[in-house]
Amino acid sequence: MNEIIELYDEMLNRLIIAAEYRDTDVPKHIIRIKLYSEWLSRELKMSQDFIESIKFAAALHDIGKIGIPYDILFKQGGLSREEFVAIKNHSQIGANILEGSNNSRIQMAASIALNHHERCDGSGYPNGIKKNTIPIEAKIVTICDQYDALMMKKPYKPSYGHKKSLEIITKGDGRTLPQHFDQDVLSAFKKIAGEFESIFNTYQDLNDDII
Ligand SMILES: [Fe+2]
Ligand SMILES: [Fe+2]
Repeated sequence: MNEIIELYDEMLNRLIIAAEYRDTDVPKHIIRIKLYSEWLSRELKMSQDFIESIKFAAALHDIGKIGIPYDILFKQGGLSREEFVAIKNHSQIGANILEGSNNSRIQMAASIALNHHERCDGSGYPNGIKKNTIPIEAKIVTICDQYDALMMKKPYKPSYGHKKSLEIITKGDGRTLPQHFDQDVLSAFKKIAGEFESIFNTYQDLNDDII
């Protein structure tokens, strides 16, 4: 039985890598998002079943990027309005790939894929929904994804480091604002921010042995 669970887990991770193969950062990003989501869910006192589900579902949050043209997804420098609109499509594409399942974990994955760029003040995408209409699993992944995006070094941006990333999320920098996030999730994040930093540091140098 354990072997089947291991096989299933490994195949899931390898499928995600295959789907997002073009982005070399993805394997590390996915592992970190799974761990941040797990820690944050535990801090929020979510059920064990929720925690197991989010570890599975969070890994698939950006699966819709498979439908975004390479030239746009990895464009260095500024994006045009049309290109940005095309990138935003990854939320809906991910939901299209995952929707309609009877399996509760895949249903959660579809919810996260669709809603992980929504913001509590309604300024997110794809639907601009607010606070209580955004599912909790998406609110959790949003903050994890934001922290990781700030910490990651990209061709178009430096890593901001833990202190600055934490400050941007909790106090805002004009672009990212605390009101984008669910306040309970934000408080839980503040409490265990040190854990986020060690997850990032532990899983930033993995190469191919990332499963
Ligand atoms: Fe995304
Ligand atoms: Fe992401």
